[in-house]
Formats: sequence, structure tokens, C-alpha cells
Amino acid sequence: MFVIDAASVAEQAGLDRRINTVMQVCFFALADILPRDEAIAHIKESIRQTWGRRGPEVVRRNVEAVDSALDNLHEVPVPGSVTATRTRPPRVPEHAPDFVQAGAGAVVMHSLFEEQLVAEQMAAHKFIDSRINMDAEARSFFPESEIFEMGSGSYLQRLQQLKTELGVPVIRSVVEQVSVPVSVKLSPFYSALPAFVAGVEAAGARGLVLFNRFYQPDIDLEQLALSREVVLSTSAELPLRLHAMARLYNRTGLDMAASGGVHTGDDAAKAILSGATVVQLVSTVLQHGPAAFERLGGELTTRLASIGYQSLQEARGALSLDNVPDAGTWERLNYARLLHGWQSSR
Ligand SMILES: Cc1cc2nc3c(=O)[nH]c(=O)nc-3n(C[C@H](O)[C@H](O)[C@H](O)COP(=O)(O)O)c2cc1C
Repeated sequence: MFVIDAASVAEQAGLDRRINTVMQVCFFALADILPRDEAIAHIKESIRQTWGRRGPEVVRRNVEAVDSALDNLHEVPVPGSVTATRTRPPRVPEHAPDFVQAGAGAVVMHSLFEEQLVAEQMAAHKFIDSRINMDAEARSFFPESEIFEMGSGSYLQRLQQLKTELGVPVIRSVVEQVSVPVSVKLSPFYSALPAFVAGVEAAGARGLVLFNRFYQPDIDLEQLALSREVVLSTSAELPLRLHAMARLYNRTGLDMAASGGVHTGDDAAKAILSGATVVQLVSTVLQHGPAAFERLGGELTTRLASIGYQSLQEARGALSLDNVPDAGTWERLNYARLLHGWQSSR
């Protein structure tokens, strides 16, 4: 094996970091196609022909690069067997939780709801106030409730202040307060999504999560009560996301995370082809545990390779609105066509 620091050789000869002349010399020196001196003579002649027009200085620099290339080409002996005792470090730390080991790329913390903050504050007040009248002296043991700094209390006050001070630009206010990139999770219920997203982008957000699945308690008619079950998603919820991302791709600089209905590698492939940068998983992980990440990653790679994509970058947005031959299929017009062409099976 031979090595050369071609960039340094080129730089020292005054060619900036243009390494093609240096590498050409190395190739002929090692390939044994022509006797080495003859090959070098041809290369120098070709330099004079190619660069002569640019003046003698350019020719001189290239010739210097040729001459010093061979001095800087070093052979590295390769032992017959592996002698290193070092092994590759694990892809993720060994103590990482199992879903990270299984391939999850990031974790999104669950929401902190305003109701939770209020409940916490009320509980503290109750704790203090319930003891006020137990004993006339005991009251002095407790500080006034106002001076309790509860973290979430000041958070809540700030949030409340923002809500009264601002209209939509809560996002901007958040962006100004933090140094991490902010992603905005949207509901599917915006009538002019690209226009709204443009506003979100202008306010400083860096990513979109499409879409939230709202908590939807159902009614249990047998018990005549609200059912408290968590309803997990199915892949049927995905097309709503695909449609939105296909329309937004190339129309926003924001990264897009598909959230809702991604259960299989094929679901993830569809999301990426529509324009998603990442997919988020909740329901399938709740159903199948951390193994879902590994399965889905494998299925996605296999699917993309089978349709001719070697990387996520290549596949991303390949079937977005701008990149499909019949963009109308993504549009509402297609709905009208489908209705006109509908034939009842009865
Ligand atoms: C049990 C459960 C808890 C969730 N908690 C939150 C949450 O705290 N904040 C949030 O924005 N979304 C929450 N979600 C919604 C998910 O982030 C996600 O948008 C939705 O589940 C769609 O993904 P999926 O089809 O993979 O489940 C929750 C979903 C489930 C099922």
C-alpha cells in the first residue's frame, strides 16, 4: 500500500490543493503501464501543452508538483495478518437504553401541558394552606406561599405572559429564548398549510413535525362513560402526512419529521420519498418495544435499495409534488377526477 499527502505536495508547489497532477504521477508510478521515466516525461509534456497558455509560472508549479510527488510517495508495509489489539468502539455506548441500541436516532420529550403546571402549583398551595389554621403558632413555620420558587411556577408565569403579550409568534419568542433548534409540531387542520409554514419559518423555527395526533377520548355506551384507552395509530393515518410533505418539499427550508402512522419500513420509505427528513415512531414502539427501531431500519434500507436508492438523501422528496410527472395526483383536482370516474360495485 502506498500513501501520499497529495494536498500538501500540491500546496507547496503553489497549486493550492489541486491534487490531480500529483495523483496522476502516483498512478503511473505504481500502475506499471509505461516505464516510469517515460510516463513522467509524457506528463510533463502534457503539462506544457495544457498550461503553456497560462504562462511559464503555472507550468513550473505543475512540473514541481510532478517532481516532488515521487519523493513524497511512501510505501506502507501491510502485515499478513491483523496485529492491532484495538477493536471498534460500539456504535452507541453500552449503557445506552435498549431503544437507542435498537437504532432510535433521537428522543422527543413528551409535552409539558399547562394543566400539569397549574395542578402542581395548586397542590403546593393546598399543602401550605391546609396547615394554616391547625395551630396558631404552626403558621409561622411556613414561609409565605409567594416566596416558594417552584421552577414550573415561573415557567408558567412566563408562558402566561407570552400568551397575553403575543398572537401567533409564540414560536419566535421561544426561538429567541433558546439556543437549540426549535421544531414546531402542527395539527393537520390548517387550510393554507404552505402559507402558515412560511410564517413558522420566518419566525425562526428550524423544523416541522407533521402532524400531531390529538387525544380523542371516545364514549363507552355500555358504561355510559368516557373511555380512557389510548388509541394507537395505524398506517392508514400516514397518507395525510405524505400529502402535506409532498406539497411542502422544496417550498420550505425546514426539515420535516413525519409523525403519525409510521409502522413499517414501507411507511418510512413513503415518508422519505414524499420529503420527510426523519420519521417519528410512537405507536409501533408501544406495541413492539425497542425492537421496532431495528426492524423498521432494516425494512427501510431493503425497500430503498430494491427501488434503486442507495441513501436517504437520494430518495428524499423523489415523489414530492415537483418531482412526479403527474403532480395533479397529489392535488385536489384528482379528487374531482376520481368522483367523476366512480363506478358503484353494486
Ligand atoms: C401514549 C402517547 C403519548 C403521547 N404523548 C405525546 C406528548 O406528550 N406530546 C406530543 O406532542 N405528542 C404526544 N403523542 C403523539 C406522538 O408524538 C405522535 O405525534 C403520534 O403518536 C403519532 O405517531 P405514531 O403514529 O407513531 O403513534 C403521544 C402519543 C401516544 C400514543
